[in-house]
Amino acid sequence: MMVVLICTTVATFDEREQTMTRRWGIMGTGIIAHAFAEAIRAEGGSVVAVSSATPARAQRFAAAHGIPVAASPHGDLLRHRDVEVVYIATTNERHHLDAHACIAAGVPALVEKPFALHAPAARAVLEAASTAGLFVAEAMWTRLQPATQRLHAELASGVIGEPTAFQASFGVVLNSDPSRRWRSAALGGGALLDLGVYPATLAHDLLGPASRVQATGQLADTGVDLNVAVVAEHERGSATWRCSFIEASGVWATVAGADGHIWIGEPFHHAPSLTVHQRDQPVRHLPIDGHELGYRYEVREVHRCLDAGLLESPTLAHADTLAVLEMLDEIGAQLGVLRPKLAPVTS
Ligand SMILES: NC(=O)c1ccc[n+]([C@@H]2O[C@H](COP(=O)([O-])OP(=O)(O)OC[C@H]3O[C@@H](n4cnc5c(N)ncnc54)[C@H](OP(=O)(O)O)[C@@H]3O)[C@@H](O)[C@H]2O)c1
Repeated sequence: MMVVLICTTVATFDEREQTMTRRWGIMGTGIIAHAFAEAIRAEGGSVVAVSSATPARAQRFAAAHGIPVAASPHGDLLRHRDVEVVYIATTNERHHLDAHACIAAGVPALVEKPFALHAPAARAVLEAASTAGLFVAEAMWTRLQPATQRLHAELASGVIGEPTAFQASFGVVLNSDPSRRWRSAALGGGALLDLGVYPATLAHDLLGPASRVQATGQLADTGVDLNVAVVAEHERGSATWRCSFIEASGVWATVAGADGHIWIGEPFHHAPSLTVHQRDQPVRHLPIDGHELGYRYEVREVHRCLDAGLLESPTLAHADTLAVLEMLDEIGAQLGVLRPKLAPVTS
């Protein structure tokens, strides 16, 4: 009897430990996966497995971060029962497949942007997650950034009146090697999915869904978009923005209303400051504490949602992910962007 009691006490302690430390798996070993592994650790989570298409890359990543399991191919990560939640940081054309694999294995997932190559693929993932009763979200970190939260608070206070105009640029010159993922149609590359998703998301969040979009741009020999300029009519105003791999036009954004405008400091998707230009008032420069925590807000939000038993983050809402992808689908169609035929979901 004495032995049974001791065992019960130990098991209860172990269970409590497990709920305190979320055990992540990471699919993908690229630049962002490294940064996210650090963010998980900084938020008190642990990474228990990583996967790559290539065993050696998985092993290198595991060694660099002290991760016990290096899996390959990606699907093998889900054989490890220790994995409680997966961060998907594979190349864009795989996001929906990797998300479906997580759902089939009963594991919640945070999926890098773009959530899928197009809205129908994203909708299928969201429906599967809903049917399975599993949490899934797009890793759109901009929505969780303190600058974005402060921007919404400033706008809600009415300092610039109703926001009706959004302008932004996300132009960074990247390596032009056609085999790099951002230049590859097969890997779901292109400026729109890599960079344009950020201004499209902020325009959507500030002005509501887009009802009409007009785009012009330039394609690479590989068929992906290099340079895109967009004018969009939204529910509550209009947006003009551009994204580019070939113009160093900066990573800035501004939102305006009848009483002023707010400049979102560069880089606007994780801004270090806001500057409020209110009509007839002194300019207010607002440094943003905590912007340097970067991806940690996403880890925190996933932990919070899982702890609360939520299937959807209110800040990373499914409907917003879909609406933004629908806008990008329309822009891509207008430009004639080449997208790979998506592999069928087999699970
Ligand atoms: N939220 C953000 O701030 C942010 C920033 C950048 C990118 N992203 C998103 O995150 C995803 C990954 O982007 P990333 O910048 O991390 O991409 P990346 O560094 O190019 O790596 C992406 C994948 O490409 C493969 N890869 C990397 N190096 C390779 C090599 N030398 N040879 C062959 N394959 C190689 C790896 O596949 P294996 O996994 O199979 O090894 C890796 O997972 C994309 O969907 C992107 O849109 C998000």
